[in-house]
Amino acid sequence: MGELAMWQQRVEEFVLGQVGPPPAQVLEVGCGEGELAHALARAGHSVTAIDPRAPEGPIFRRVGIEEFTDPGPFDHVVASLSLHHIENLGEALDKLADVLRTGGSLVVVEFGWDWIDEATGQGALGHPGVDRGMRSPARAQREVAPVHAAGGCLRTDLAGV
Ligand SMILES: C[S@@+](CC[C@H](N)C(=O)[O-])C[C@H]1O[C@@H](n2cnc3c(N)ncnc32)[C@H](O)[C@@H]1O
Repeated sequence: MGELAMWQQRVEEFVLGQVGPPPAQVLEVGCGEGELAHALARAGHSVTAIDPRAPEGPIFRRVGIEEFTDPGPFDHVVASLSLHHIENLGEALDKLADVLRTGGSLVVVEFGWDWIDEATGQGALGHPGVDRGMRSPARAQREVAPVHAAGGCLRTDLAGV
């Protein structure tokens, strides 16, 4: 199995484990090509997956979190490597809190930038599993670390991916 397939498998296992048994209403933010959304749907969840570049399909909405208007409520919101792309993270998190049902969960997969130094982060940008659209490790660390502090994150060891 290649590195990206291993990464994807680890993410799916982690997220499915956090979401728990079906059926649940799940919103995925920044679904990319939709692999995780499809895995959640295959597991029996009712999935809405948003991304300005979402693929075609009944579970997908081609929209950013800023324009998303479905009031929910969702049992879980999932964001895998997408929060660091969002310009106004505070507003986005407020919106996610609004669409979550009381007691719902936000499941975040992000890089553990607070665990690595700047030089390692710069090197990681060349890693095939790492998003090249990221503006800088320093910015990601600044903006994503508070989300880590809120819990629900998958700490990843980039060397082990
Ligand atoms: C690194 S990709 C991650 C894709 C997928 N979740 C994964 O883990 O492979 C980040 C995704 O976030 C999406 N994205 C960027 N800004 C967004 C926004 N404001 N709202 C929703 N999605 C956004 C991008 O289009 C992109 O598909």
